[in-house]
Amino acid sequence: MNTTDEALAQLGVDSYRSCEALQQPVWPDADALKRATDRLKQVPPLVFAGEADVLRGHLAAAGRGEAFVLQGGDCAEIFSEATADRIRNKIKTILQMAVVLTYGASTPVVKIGRMAGQYAKPRSSHDETRDGVTLPAYRGDIVNSFAFTEEARVPNPDRLLDAYHVSASTLNLIRAFTTGGFADLRRVHQWNRGFSANPAYAAYDKVAAEIDRAVRFMEAAGGDFEALKTVEFFSSHEALLLDYERALTRIDSRSGLPYDCSGHFLWIGERTRQLDGAHVEFLSKIHNPLGVKLGPTSTAADAMALAERLNPGNVEGRLTFVARMGADKVRDVLPGLVEGVRDAGINVTWLTDPMHGNTFTSESGYKTRRFETILDEVKGFFEVHRDLGTVPGGLHVELTGDDVTEVLGGTAEIDDEGLAMRYETKVDPRLNHEQSLEMAFLVSELLSHREVPPLETLRFED
Ligand code: PEP
Ligand code: CO
Repeated sequence: MNTTDEALAQLGVDSYRSCEALQQPVWPDADALKRATDRLKQVPPLVFAGEADVLRGHLAAAGRGEAFVLQGGDCAEIFSEATADRIRNKIKTILQMAVVLTYGASTPVVKIGRMAGQYAKPRSSHDETRDGVTLPAYRGDIVNSFAFTEEARVPNPDRLLDAYHVSASTLNLIRAFTTGGFADLRRVHQWNRGFSANPAYAAYDKVAAEIDRAVRFMEAAGGDFEALKTVEFFSSHEALLLDYERALTRIDSRSGLPYDCSGHFLWIGERTRQLDGAHVEFLSKIHNPLGVKLGPTSTAADAMALAERLNPGNVEGRLTFVARMGADKVRDVLPGLVEGVRDAGINVTWLTDPMHGNTFTSESGYKTRRFETILDEVKGFFEVHRDLGTVPGGLHVELTGDDVTEVLGGTAEIDDEGLAMRYETKVDPRLNHEQSLEMAFLVSELLSHREVPPLETLRFED
């Protein structure tokens, strides 16, 4: 054990090792795993604790209705797809959505990518069998490779280091795109004008024209467009692979507290949120802002117990619940959870993930979702919060900036036959560029009915 390891152990970050850890690969070579994690313990952090603290403040604002969160990106990032073009398209899509949502919400939008670290996937089975051959399931590029061969599927710890390096280069490009002029509000707005000028999307041109007037008003009134050339953008992923997350944990030199420096915001998935499980135990010791996915079997008691474990100090912005109920259940199941948490005085930020409860296999055999069903779950989420007088704090979506055909429907009316045209995802189906923008315009409309906070609260605290 090196001295940092000892100090981290003193801070309790290794207590998770005595808990059951679901969804972990079986690494065949323990020495190779140790070599990889020892190396990861030496590398520079991908993000800084101070940045995670800033995000906590923004998430707190979203929990109060003074901001709105947009979290989006691939279901599973793929090493070979971390190219400049694809990263740029994803950033561009999220920035375009954010402008539309900012207008609808009349508040800042907190932009978080499922990017630069979203490489580990929970699976329903340890193995996969094809034509009588059984191999380990694909658990994401951080563990093994998608190709159905023995060599590709055996968990390989060298991939932990690859994940770190690909995350670093992705984050480097994200930082360049979001601070180097690419994100300039006027430019992003022009891209949106291009979208709504397409006759197919004429329904959104009215809102785009309203945003245009707002931008012109700002300009005429002497708004500081120089400041709007730069946007804050945060990284996030599911903290699933504990060997990786633990190896990137560092002690913040300012506070002496442990932060998982693999990403700003980390979440616990629906399959690994057991109260006595290793994921909850590990993240309870980490000071980043955290999310927990809550599926349709969750109860108010589960939510309250998770809050007690992960946020005993009831710190605003520390804990985000990401509800992924399914469009057919959100109106029945979510109210009990939101009400229970509200009545217990627990501070959480509520996001909707309208993707993971709405997945099915199409007749032609593709794993897909329907655009209209996704939107219906978002609507249900807003209705529940409106009825309870609570705050719908944000949207969590699987998207890509490319013109893939993975989700059915939308104005372009992708049908079952159309899915075959460009179905690329290795795991879950993503909204494509146009579907993402359409979703933003539709959610913006829902947001415009949300209560608008007093103007003086609309500055993020530093
Ligand atoms: C995911 O976000 O890709 C995921 C696996 O979600 P969930 O844990 O909600 O099923
Ligand atoms: Co997914």
